[in-house]
Amino acid sequence: MDRIVVKGGGPLAGRIEISGAKNACLALMPATLLSEEPLTLTNAPRLSDIRTMSVLLESLGAEISTMQDGKVLAMSSHAADNHVADYDIVRKMRASNLVLGPLLARHGHAVVSLPGGCAIGARPMDLHISALEAMGAQIDLRDGYLHAEAKGGLKGADITLRFASVGATENTVMAATLAKGTTILRNAAREPEIVDLVECLRKMGAQIEGEGTATITIEGVDRLHGATHPVVADRIETGTYMLAPAIAGGEVELVGGRMDLLGAFCEKLDACGIELSETGTGLIAKRRNGRVDAVNVVTEVFPGFPTDLQAQMMAVMCTANGVSVLEERIFENRFMHAPELIRMGAHIDVQGGIATVTGVEKLRGAPVMATDLRASVSLILAALAAEGETVVNRVYHLDRGYERVEEKLGAVGARIERVSE
Ligand code: UD1
Repeated sequence: MDRIVVKGGGPLAGRIEISGAKNACLALMPATLLSEEPLTLTNAPRLSDIRTMSVLLESLGAEISTMQDGKVLAMSSHAADNHVADYDIVRKMRASNLVLGPLLARHGHAVVSLPGGCAIGARPMDLHISALEAMGAQIDLRDGYLHAEAKGGLKGADITLRFASVGATENTVMAATLAKGTTILRNAAREPEIVDLVECLRKMGAQIEGEGTATITIEGVDRLHGATHPVVADRIETGTYMLAPAIAGGEVELVGGRMDLLGAFCEKLDACGIELSETGTGLIAKRRNGRVDAVNVVTEVFPGFPTDLQAQMMAVMCTANGVSVLEERIFENRFMHAPELIRMGAHIDVQGGIATVTGVEKLRGAPVMATDLRASVSLILAALAAEGETVVNRVYHLDRGYERVEEKLGAVGARIERVSE
């Protein structure tokens, strides 16, 4: 298994190219099941989660070929005739559940394994299920699989989500594109990945309005056609690399990075001493003075502070001036990085969903363990400015969501390498 070895060092300088968004791509790929015609995604990130989704879609009968070293995914579902998403694939990645809505819309029935718990919390699927049930599906849980059936096809419905779940919004919108009649989805998620999905579905002929707001209206159509769509820039990768100069000092340009996708995150960065400026091709993040100032953070749905940047922000707060309080409101167990950061000399006290971080002047390198995707990159950020060497183990988590992290950070002067065993 690979490890990442980081030697703490001085200020960073240079450019990093931002990839297409993993989470947008994972929602866009299942949309291929909604049409007999080809769907081509450009600007796809080269990540193991994307390969897992490809394996899942191929198991359902889709044909996928990659071009431009994996940046282009050409998909065709004209012969996709399997409606069973197997546990062996689904258990590897929760986003596999995004085939449920498209399969149901295409075949009128679907059997999809429940993904099971994951490290950051229970993450049930009740919101996906109740939305599809409102559209006329009957869904039962048997042998660990959701068996869904919509006799006579799905029908438009007026649905209010109890919580603005990203995945439930994506599944419902995709299913509604081919349902009979109008679906109104209230308290829908507003994340940029939803907007990207809707833009692609519209190119495929779907009739949708209101994406990016809390109410999305979908007028069902008889069929969708082929399209080509570029995956939106990864806002979480952008935010992660914006934090690199916050902890190590210096200035980095994020080519393709977009501040408008980051909502409250940019305001927090400004408040703690990071200067952000837009360029014609991306943005520049620069640390104004020495250590950043402590700020408090509450994770919220978009445009609030993203839960997917909480671990990275905690790493930065470990060496900030003062005390910061980070409150995690989206997932119940998303502080596994705290004990690892403590091993590097951080002062963190976790009580339930609240972590209090007292900034120290320096962290020290240590062997640490990646526990999930965002936790692993937070340890790399912490290591950038730590004294000595940090070895991050279990980097397969990192490879799920960060494309060539060692090359990207290496290009701005970080002393980082991947070591294969
Ligand atoms: C997506 C992102 C993930 C991000 C999260 C929140 C993808 C592939 N993943 O995950 O990176 O951290 O949004 O921004 O896009 N919930 C329920 N019942 C449900 C569904 C969700 O209770 O049926 C709860 C979850 O347990 C969690 C919260 O709602 O506490 C948010 O989950 P959700 O927005 O659905 O996240 P995902 O779509 O799984």
